[in-house]
Amino acid sequence: MDDATDRSDALGIDLAADRLTRTSADDIERAAEAALRPRSLDEFVGQHVVRDQLSLVLQAALGRGTPPDHVLLSGPPGLGKTTLAMIIAAELGTSLRVTSGPAIQHAGDLAAVLSSLDEGEVLFIDEIHRLARPAEELLYVAMEDFRVDVVVGKGAGASAIPLSLPRFTTVGATTRAGLLPAPLRDRFGFTAHLDFYSADELERVLLRSAGLLGTALDAEAASEIASRSRGTPRIANRLLRRVRDWAQVRGDGSLDLRAAQAALEVYEVDALGLDRLDRSVLEALCVRFGGGPVGLTTLAVTVGEEPETVETVAEPYLVREGLVGRTPRGRVATPAAWAHLGLVPPSAGGTLFA
Ligand SMILES: Nc1ncnc2c1ncn2[C@@H]1O[C@H](COP(=O)(O)OP(=O)(O)OP(=O)(O)O)[C@@H](O)[C@H]1O
Ligand SMILES: [Mg+2]
Repeated sequence: MDDATDRSDALGIDLAADRLTRTSADDIERAAEAALRPRSLDEFVGQHVVRDQLSLVLQAALGRGTPPDHVLLSGPPGLGKTTLAMIIAAELGTSLRVTSGPAIQHAGDLAAVLSSLDEGEVLFIDEIHRLARPAEELLYVAMEDFRVDVVVGKGAGASAIPLSLPRFTTVGATTRAGLLPAPLRDRFGFTAHLDFYSADELERVLLRSAGLLGTALDAEAASEIASRSRGTPRIANRLLRRVRDWAQVRGDGSLDLRAAQAALEVYEVDALGLDRLDRSVLEALCVRFGGGPVGLTTLAVTVGEEPETVETVAEPYLVREGLVGRTPRGRVATPAAWAHLGLVPPSAGGTLFA
C-alpha cells in the first residue's frame, strides 16, 4: 500500500500539470486511492441515507439467499461510486466483475462478459451512460430476464439462440444519470444518488485516510483541508497527500494547521477550495467586465482557456458555491464573488442579475 502511495506522490506533481482540485483521477492516483478505499458500509463515511437504504437492500437479499436488485449509483466524480460498488460485492460475500461503458464496443463484448458470470456475482458497469446502443438493449434483457440472445450466422440465415444466465446483480455507476435512457434506468430496483460531503464528513474521511497512511493529522488541520476540498473525498485525500509532502520537506513532519495552510498556499488552493483557474475566471468577470453579464467565449478568451474548459472545469463549482450566476445574457458575478476577491461591487443594486 505504501509503495503505491509513495510512487504516486513522487510522480503526482509532474503528471498533474493538471489541477490539484480536479475531480477526476488518473491511473496512478487510482492506485493511491485503492489503499484508502473503505471496505465495508460501516467504514464508508457520510451519505447516511444512501448507506441506510443500501444496507437494507443488501441485508434483505442476504436473508433471502438471493442476489439483490440491480443498483444504480449516480453522482459527481470522486464521491464514492466505485468504492460503493466494491463494498456491495464485499458485503454480499461475492466477487465483483468490472467493466465500463466505453470498454464495451460491441454487444458481443457484453454478451461475453455476461455469459461468463457466476451465480450471485456483481457486475460493475462504470460510466454506464456511455454504453453503445446495441449493448444497452442486450443489457435490458439480461437484467430483466437473465438471458442473452446470442446471434449466430448472418443476414437472412441468422438466428438468435437464447442463453440463460445465472442470477447476478448489476451495479451501474454514472456521473450523468440524466443521460440514461428511461428503459435502462427503470431496470434498476434501487438508485442511490451520492451528494457532496459536508465539511464534517470530509474531516472524518481525512482522519481515517491519515491513519491509513500512518500519519497523525491534527483536528485543526483536518478541518482546514476539509473546508478546501469542494465536498469531494477524492480531492480531500489528494490535498492531504500534498500537505504530508510539505510537512515532510519543509515542516517538522507534523500535519498541523500551519502545514495545511502553508502547503495549500504553495499549491494555490484558497480558503474556498478555488484554484488559480477558478480565481482568474472570477477576477476576469469582476475586474475586466465589472461583474458581467459576459458571454462564455469572451470570458474564456480573457483567461486564456477553451470555453469548454471554463464551462465544465471551473464553472460548476463556482456556480455551486454561489459565486457565479448564469443568465440568458451571460455569466454574472454574485456579491459573494466580489466579497471572496476582497473587492467592492461597482454600485450596490447595479446591473447584477439585470
Ligand atoms: N464515503 C467515503 N468514505 C471514505 N472515503 C471515501 C468515501 N467516498 C469516497 N472515498 C474516497 O475517495 C476516493 C474516490 O472515490 P471513488 O473512486 O469511489 O469515486 P467515484 O465516485 O467512483 O469517482 P469517478 O466518478 O471518478 O469514478 C477513493 O479513494 C475513496 O477511498
Ligand atoms: Mg469510479
